[in-house]
Amino acid sequence: PTGFKVALLGAAGGIGQPLALLLKKSPLIDVLNLYDIVNTPGVACDLSHIDTPCKVQGFAGAGQLGAALEGCHLVIIPAGVPRKPGMTRDDLFNTNAGIVRTLAEGVAKYCPRAVVNVISNPVNSTVPIVAEVMKARGVYDPAKLMGVTTLDVLRARTFVAEAIGVPPGSVDLPVIGGHAGITILPLLSQATPSFSFTDDEVAKLTKRIQNGGTEVVDAKAGAGSATLSMAQAALRFGESCLRGLKGDTNVLECAYVQSTVTSVPYFASKILLGRSGVEATYPLGPLSASEREGLNKLLPELKANIEKGIAFAHK
Ligand code: APR
Repeated sequence: PTGFKVALLGAAGGIGQPLALLLKKSPLIDVLNLYDIVNTPGVACDLSHIDTPCKVQGFAGAGQLGAALEGCHLVIIPAGVPRKPGMTRDDLFNTNAGIVRTLAEGVAKYCPRAVVNVISNPVNSTVPIVAEVMKARGVYDPAKLMGVTTLDVLRARTFVAEAIGVPPGSVDLPVIGGHAGITILPLLSQATPSFSFTDDEVAKLTKRIQNGGTEVVDAKAGAGSATLSMAQAALRFGESCLRGLKGDTNVLECAYVQSTVTSVPYFASKILLGRSGVEATYPLGPLSASEREGLNKLLPELKANIEKGIAFAHK
């Protein structure tokens, strides 16, 4: 037993359910608390019949949020509404910002020292909302708050492997910036193993990685956005956080965190995870000319997304 207790908020949803299944199978988790406004007792009962040691408990409705969060080491938040075709992640702001603010109030009150993984979109804005709520309650620790951008990394690994004809999983590259449209910037020049892409390949791959979410939204034709791949990405990132907490060394991920790596206060880049959460953010390294151009273009948009979140939190 690891002693780790994890809360999943929005656990009955499209991301929540497959993520709950993956977390139930994780050897790193002893107790999994599923919270949603509906259906979590059923999801928890269903999962509890699986023969893995992790104990699953369901909590439904605002009155049970405290019980769901009490004592948790990690809180994963995919609560909110998903995109429909034609919508950007920013179009979700009005609904999801309020949901995230309420849930952050709960975290501040019931498990202020937990690591928080935010999935609810627009992540560029919802992460600053959580930070502002925690600050107002006097419990903000920037090392404990991350926006999950791991799906951008998985997409980059998959699409690049496909393009250069190597097995998926054999390529790695950082994806920096934010988690929407042009704010997502894959650093193809830093891919390992290294590969010399033509300008045309860089442009096409960058665009596909930036539009990966929209590819799924369109394919689902009104039924929502990425859920299964997002669940896998969230499992990977959540397990990395737990590995860091238990003292494993060299746990590296890309994530959207408070940052001094660029001129904007929150930025996704390579981070080191450890016992206290984010223990280091790494400099971006050498960028190609087109990456530098992409970075210059994304910074004003990301800055505006961040300011929108901060303004909402203070309304
Ligand atoms: N508290 C807890 N859960 C909530 C709340 C709330 N205040 N409001 C909504 N939920 C729950 C819903 O009941 C639902 O079970 O969040 C879940 C969301 O599930 P879906 O609607 O299926 O959405 P999903 O595809 O899982 O995406 C959720 O993650 O990636 C992002 O853009 C995506 O913001 C969206 C979020």
